[in-house]
Formats: sequence, C-alpha cells, structure tokens
Amino acid sequence: AIERTLSIIKPDAVAKNVIGQIYQRFEGAGLKVIAARMMHLSRAEAEGFYAVHKERPFFKDLVDFMISGPVMVQALQGENAMQVNRDLMGATDPKKADKGTIRADFADSIDANAVHGSDSVENAAIEIAYFFPALNVYAR
Ligand code: CMP
Repeated sequence: AIERTLSIIKPDAVAKNVIGQIYQRFEGAGLKVIAARMMHLSRAEAEGFYAVHKERPFFKDLVDFMISGPVMVQALQGENAMQVNRDLMGATDPKKADKGTIRADFADSIDANAVHGSDSVENAAIEIAYFFPALNVYAR
C-alpha cells in the first residue's frame, strides 16, 4: 500500500553535509519527499517527539544529541514507505547496520546514527502530525 513515514536527518549527518546524498537514497528507492523543514529543535520539542522513550536510560543523551545542531525533517510517501525507509537506514546501531545502508555509510554511534525513521505506520501518522500541519504536506 502507499504509505507515509517520518524521517529526520540528525545533527551528525547535517554537519557532514550529506542531506543531498540521503535524499538521493530516498528518491532512488521510490520515496517522494512530500513535506520538509530544517529545524533546530528545542529541548521541549525533542522531548515531546521522543516521549515514548522517556523512561529509557538513553533518553537524556538522545535529547542532548538531537538538540546539538540543526536537523532536516521530512515526510516520505511511497509504496511500503515505512519499511522501505527502515531498510534504507539499516540497524539502529551503525556497527550492526548492513553494508550500503545510510547508517553503515554515514553514522558514528547509536546516538549519532544519522537518521530517524518511524517504526510503524501508526507512529508515522503521529510523528508527521507532530512536525507538519496537514496544509504543509504536499501529497502527489
Ligand atoms: P531513533 O530511531 O531516532 O529512535 C530513538 C533513538 O535513541 C535511536 O534512534 C538511537 O539513536 C537512540 N538510542 C540510544 N541508545 C539506544 C538503545 N540502546 N536502543 C535504541 N535506541 C537507542
């Protein structure tokens, strides 16, 4: 089915100047960028986005990292978009990510892991709505 998913290019990858290379992978896999904005997240915005991880031991480090510099946030649309994006990203821990994935190629650590992608279609809808009002999503 045609799905949508939320993607974030994290501060490490923005600092490495690989936004374009990562967009090329989305487009090469048939995903369309239907909304996008560059943001420097506030602590409150990052904590709200990652609220499901609030009780996890890595929460503080995760939030500190996500507010350390600008990020590029986008909604992607395409056939099976959630899983296609997860396959492009590779495993959360770049040391475990398959060769040729975004994380294997651009990530440095489990926190500085280059990209975020929604882990379910249900969460994708919540995450897209967190960053994009419906009128700023340009489905096509
Ligand atoms: P992301 O997909 O953005 O969702 C939560 C993030 O927490 C994850 O990517 C990692 O960058 C970070 N993280 C740090 N430690 C862990 C861990 N042990 N398990 C899962 N995620 C972790």
